[in-house]
Amino acid sequence: MDRVRIGLVGFGTVGGSFYRLLTANAGEFERRLGVAVDVPWLAVRDASRPRNVAPGTRVVQGWQAILDDNDLPIVVELAGGAEAPLPLVREALSRGKHVITANKALLSAHGRELLALAAENGVELKFEAAVCGGIPIIKVLSESLLGNRVRSIVGIVNGTTNYILTRMTEERLSFAEALAEAQKKGFAEADPTLDVSGGDAAQKIGLLGSLAFGCWIDPACVLTEGITTVEQKDIEFCQASGFQIKLVAQARLMDGVPLVTVFPALVPLDHPLAGVRNEFNGVLVDSDYLGPSMYEGRGAGGNPTASSVASDLGDLLKGILSKQVRRPFAGALPLAAAFPQGRMRSRYYFHFVTANRPGIWALVTGVCAETGINIESVHQKWEDKSKPSDLYVLVDEAEESQVRLAFSRITAAEGIRPASHYLRIVPSPAGGR
Ligand SMILES: NC(=O)c1ccc[n+]([C@@H]2O[C@H](COP(=O)([O-])OP(=O)(O)OC[C@H]3O[C@@H](n4cnc5c(N)ncnc54)[C@H](OP(=O)(O)O)[C@@H]3O)[C@@H](O)[C@H]2O)c1
Repeated sequence: MDRVRIGLVGFGTVGGSFYRLLTANAGEFERRLGVAVDVPWLAVRDASRPRNVAPGTRVVQGWQAILDDNDLPIVVELAGGAEAPLPLVREALSRGKHVITANKALLSAHGRELLALAAENGVELKFEAAVCGGIPIIKVLSESLLGNRVRSIVGIVNGTTNYILTRMTEERLSFAEALAEAQKKGFAEADPTLDVSGGDAAQKIGLLGSLAFGCWIDPACVLTEGITTVEQKDIEFCQASGFQIKLVAQARLMDGVPLVTVFPALVPLDHPLAGVRNEFNGVLVDSDYLGPSMYEGRGAGGNPTASSVASDLGDLLKGILSKQVRRPFAGALPLAAAFPQGRMRSRYYFHFVTANRPGIWALVTGVCAETGINIESVHQKWEDKSKPSDLYVLVDEAEESQVRLAFSRITAAEGIRPASHYLRIVPSPAGGR
């Protein structure tokens, strides 16, 4: 039987699970591919800590031994960090080693350069685990839909925020309570900023869009808004109106140019993403020949993510056995042009927090009329005359630039409180509203 040696960097949540998977399911690689996988090196930050590994695996501090091993064709980077593993991945690719990584931060910042470096050196850079944990969405976009032109990707790609919004919806928790619960259960980091700000989702949808559209989407071009402004009141009103609030990541081709966004949005209850609950992820892809197709599963966690790392390893082993190198793109990726965000169109939901005084409805309807925005419905919730009231307005499809103008005019007026905000509405995939 053929034997392939791999070097593993990182033995944390994902690295530990991946190592255990290799041990527990070694027979699967042997049965399906006829290859045995050996892990002669495990690189960690602190090699003095005891690690539960087989006698054939040497635990070392830092990754130099892996780079210097000339009989080791695959490096698995599961250390994390946008910058720290960059020298490792660059050096491994330059020395003709294939690299598997789960590191979306590294790829988002340096993926274009690293993919080009892999191609130059005739090796592969694989990253199934970097987006949506265990869901094989990278394979779907780069292989399964190869004969299709992808029109749009609409997804819930961050498990932390989906867990928080689900708990706010189903248990009526406040944002702070839901976040504390997510942290306790291990679904949110001690510092949740990257998740709740939408930054993590922006890195992931940038990668998915780049794969789907064949051009590199600069993360700086992704319109990114987080979930910290979403209140329990928004959730209650939207639910009563037939929507769930979700952090939605989208990459769409508009006049042939990508529009890539991440923001909390109203999702109609009949939309496939509305049923994606808790820490799960879901991605709806629309392509010209297949039409809509939906992918759902666990977006994070050691075992689901290790499952994707193993899938990449299986692909590389097949390639090594058949002496083939497969790449997600035929050539270098051009930089994507960005569709102007102001020209994005959507239905919208406004939540104005207002003083209880005459003329507020007239102000809102007047500004909407002046800016060409067609109002669908207005609801006011007025509990106590001495307190501000909540005015909820749903409007017909409009351009983002019109909505920004109307919102800034309305919120500049006397009697409108700064807590006012607006959200966008995702259309039903069936072409309904
Ligand atoms: N956790 C998830 O659910 C998940 C899901 C999808 C993708 N990912 C990605 O997977 C990667 C790993 O995440 P994780 O949660 O497994 O991280 P983690 O639990 O913090 O583990 C990191 C591991 O890397 C090792 N390490 C760190 N710096 C190193 C260095 N300079 N040299 C050698 N080893 C080093 C650490 O060594 P010590 O043990 O000595 O500290 C530790 O074993 C990240 O890129 C993350 O974004 C994670």
